Formats: sequence, C-alpha cells, structure tokens
Amino acid sequence: MNKDKSRNLRQALGSFPTGVTVVSCLDKNENALGFTANSFTSVSLDPKLISICIDKESFNIDSFSIAKHFAVSVLSEDQQSISTTFAMPNEDRFKNIDWRAEDTGSPIISGAVAWFDCNTEQIVDAGDHLILIGKIIAFDSSPKTPLMYLRGNYVNLGLEQKMLLAMENENTEIIVGAIIEWRKKVFLLKDNNSDSLYFPSASRLGHIDDNQSLLGVLKNLNLSINEHYLFSVFEKAEDKTSLIYYRAQAKEGAEDLVNSFYAFDDIPFDKLSDDASRIMLKRYIKERELNAFGIFVGKESEGKVEALSKNNQNT
Ligand SMILES: Cc1cc2nc3c(=O)[nH]c(=O)nc-3n(C[C@H](O)[C@H](O)[C@H](O)COP(=O)(O)O)c2cc1C
Repeated sequence: MNKDKSRNLRQALGSFPTGVTVVSCLDKNENALGFTANSFTSVSLDPKLISICIDKESFNIDSFSIAKHFAVSVLSEDQQSISTTFAMPNEDRFKNIDWRAEDTGSPIISGAVAWFDCNTEQIVDAGDHLILIGKIIAFDSSPKTPLMYLRGNYVNLGLEQKMLLAMENENTEIIVGAIIEWRKKVFLLKDNNSDSLYFPSASRLGHIDDNQSLLGVLKNLNLSINEHYLFSVFEKAEDKTSLIYYRAQAKEGAEDLVNSFYAFDDIPFDKLSDDASRIMLKRYIKERELNAFGIFVGKESEGKVEALSKNNQNT
C-alpha cells in the first residue's frame, strides 16, 4: 500500500475511540517487558478471553511469542506519561514505574483502572501483526476514569467535565485561550503599551465567523489552525475567572506571522502577562519535549510515535 493510502487508512482507523493499555510479560530472564497498545479487545466471557495485536516488527515480539503468560493494564487518565514511556524506545520501560505481579508473574501497572492477568491461550498470525489471545486468570477494576485515545491524540474526559462545570457556573467569567504551536515555536501577542506577551483569547471558543470568539479572533489574525484539543482548565480564585485553554498547531502559512512566534528555548517568560500563563506554557513545553501529545503513526515512520510538528496535517 502506498504511503498516502496507508496514512488514510490509519486516519480512518483512528476515528474509532479506544482506551490505552500497557501489555506486559516477563522475558526468559524474568525481566519485565511491555508496550503501549490500544488494540485490546474483549473476546469471550465463557471462557474468559481477551486479545491484543502486536506488530511483528515489535522489538519484543520474540518474548511475547514464547511467553506463557501476559498481562494487560488499562491506563487511567493520569497515566498518560506511562503510555508515552511504553510507546517510546527505552531499554527498561519499567525502571521508574510502580508495578507488581499477581497470579502469573506478569507485570501489572499500579494505579491502572483495570488489569487482566492472562495465560497465553492462542497466537494467531494476522498480516503484519500477531493476535495474542489471553485466557484471564485474574483481574480487577476500579471506578477511575480511563485514558482515551482518538485520532492520534489522548482525550482527557476529566478535563472536558471540568470545562463543562466551569461553563455552567454563572458567577464566573470565562476566558478561552489557545496555545498555538508552529515549528517548535509558540504564538504570543504583544501588548504595545506594557510590552507584555499574552495568548490569544476570547470569551468563547465559538466559530470563525464570530468576531467575539477565539476562532474568530484567530481568523482576524490570519492564523489558521488544525484541530484543537483541550489542554488546561483552571480557575483564578482572585477574580472568579475560569480559564479554558486549547492547544493547536498552526497550519502552513503561519510564516507571515513569524514575528509573533517564539522558539521554545527562547521564550521571554518574564514578559508573559501573568503567572498562570507562565506555568501553563512551561508545562506545555515540557510535555511537548516528552512528546506527550505524540501521534501513533505505526511503523512506516522511523520513530514509531512521531512528533506532531512533523506530520500533524492529517491527524
Ligand atoms: C496509543 C498507542 C497505541 C498503540 N497500540 C499498539 C498496538 O495495539 N499494537 C502494537 O504493536 N503497537 C502499538 N503501539 C505502538 C507501540 O507502543 C510502540 O511501537 C512501541 O514502541 C513498541 O515497543 P517495542 O517495539 O519495544 O515492543 C501503540 C502506541 C500508542 C501511543
């Protein structure tokens, strides 16, 4: 399949929302191995079977092919960094991870929303993947909110709920802002009187034809963005304001606004208009460096999780 077709297929497949799991086993030397997988599926209740698909090019394919047991840990929404760790090349992904063994000895991630400890029941050869079918030996679950994955991005349900609550509160003023990135730079407006820098914002997200909305403000700035994702929701207690921030990538054409984009490692933080913006932007850059918003693009790219800036156009 040519590259474009394969990208289109991944795009279509990515429109099916999933949870995020870590699939793990012990290798022949009893070392803990694991990788991030969203191909987890329940297969049968009686007998109790689940399945996951593993890429035949996976670094650990041999270990998973011969392992008599494996485990699946369903990640919670505060475990996004674990998902990133287990999707990136790393000698020992379990090094700084809190985990334990249950019945089969396979590693189970502490704090997971649910886990399934399995005997390997069957391995099915399926194209460029193997389907591992596991017979559940032990399992547990908790009411925590799971991490979700859609169109190559993590979806944080807790954040969405926080936003809805903030919007329902009639006593708070809403400010909706955006962190817009382009080529590892971030877009900031300058207040000519005070020389301070601030994010574009408005009183609602709105629509490009609504001048009072964030999308309208961006359009008037001639700044076109790709899809936007909720990044942060917080309250400023002192003036009863709720701030809702999205993150987005600028489309090509942002060259014309190059003077308003500040390189990640050259941001004059002292000029940002307030502490909240400073803290938020520092967090954004840190997470960006960790590639926490990485998109799963499969094995065709060199890095299996590719940075948004390289190819977010199609996600
Ligand atoms: C959200 C997400 C879901 C993924 N799902 C799968 C999957 O179901 N099967 C798979 O083989 N790889 C999947 N990957 C990619 C692997 O986690 C990634 O390629 C990892 O580096 C494989 O590690 P290994 O080669 O060390 O085994 C996914 C990655 C992400 C970020």
